[in-house]
Amino acid sequence: AIALSPFTNEITYLVDGDCAIVTRQGAEIIDFSGKPVKRERQISQATAYVVDKGNHRHFMEKEIYEQPEVISHALSHYVDFASKTVKQADTAIDFAKLSGLAISACGTAYLSGLIGKYWFERYARLPVEIDVASEFRYREIPLVPTQAALFISQSGETADTLAALRYCQQEGLKIGAVVNTRESTMARESDAIFPILAGPEIGVASTKAFTCQLAVLASLAVAARKARGTVTAQQETDLVRHLTEMPRIMSKVLNSIQPQIEALSRDLSRFKDVLYLGRGTSFPLALEGALKLKEISYIHAEGYAAGELKHGPIALIDENMPVIVIAPHDRFFEKTVSNMQEVAARGGRIIFITDEKGAAASKLDTMATITLPNVDELIAPMVFSLPIQLLAYHTAVFMGADVDQPRNLAKSVTVE
Ligand code: F6R
Repeated sequence: AIALSPFTNEITYLVDGDCAIVTRQGAEIIDFSGKPVKRERQISQATAYVVDKGNHRHFMEKEIYEQPEVISHALSHYVDFASKTVKQADTAIDFAKLSGLAISACGTAYLSGLIGKYWFERYARLPVEIDVASEFRYREIPLVPTQAALFISQSGETADTLAALRYCQQEGLKIGAVVNTRESTMARESDAIFPILAGPEIGVASTKAFTCQLAVLASLAVAARKARGTVTAQQETDLVRHLTEMPRIMSKVLNSIQPQIEALSRDLSRFKDVLYLGRGTSFPLALEGALKLKEISYIHAEGYAAGELKHGPIALIDENMPVIVIAPHDRFFEKTVSNMQEVAARGGRIIFITDEKGAAASKLDTMATITLPNVDELIAPMVFSLPIQLLAYHTAVFMGADVDQPRNLAKSVTVE
């Protein structure tokens, strides 16, 4: 729909097995048995956006800097900025009655789901089963219809995620799609649609779709908490206030950290391997940091839960492998700092991504400390995504890589 948007905003989607014969006079559609069929003509949303790089060198850079604006737009669908309350985005899934939630997705979308699991469990006391879709679809997971299933996908077309969705449908679960494309197959096959409203994402490496997915999942976790009666009016106001403050904080961060990150990227580009560590929601963020760096700069990177360091990866630590530690001053801070001490004691170089309180509390020597504003735990993953994305971006640019079209990757993976 995006590619066709300069020519038309009217789109007809074919169903699996359909065939269309296109002539100057129009299109005739036949189904798999050869019978002529009518398929609805829809007005595509894609024309609402101008798809160009603006003043940026790459789509990825533009999409990183767009985040405050698109997140604000996404949030307005899920929360009421004036009354500081959550809105009921789609009534097809009733969070109050659920015994659990199953989440499945691929790549970056899976990592946003992993952060979502922390939120749904902590804030809404809703147990979450989560797996990458390529495993989920074959695990023959025992599911019950009192659970609902959420599928997260920027494109809404990823083959494995779609197969996992259809598996849950057969098991009688209510299906929710957290997608960027409302007309996508996943959206069309779901009971509830939770749009992330990020606008077209052209860079192959996902950035704004990731943080918009997080903003939607955070809002849904607060909505689920409210539906399940585990939130007071004051707690709801506080959580929503943190969400609504997020775009402003993200703008502030984007306006301040770029020179430091650009300089640091030059240093990082000299290394062949990088380790990312984090605890709590910073653990999936460590995985995302490693994924982003490896896919666009081709530097080998691994993400680990900080507590797992001594169960294996610590053997790798030396001066040739920088360790990027993501640690806001949260409940886990002291524990992550003790893992950092283990790295420092073995001559490892540390890039410390923390907040003002964290920077003041840590006395360790680092290769660099990136200091972000102090923010509430709920919004820290979105704010801390920014230095992670920029670090990968500038490292790849410095190394001369094709940032928007990394080798061997496709934006939408429609095969298994
Ligand atoms: C990484 C990236 C991929 C996608 C994954 C799922 O930056 O973009 O890992 O997240 O291929 O794609 P969607 O979200 O379209 O299902």
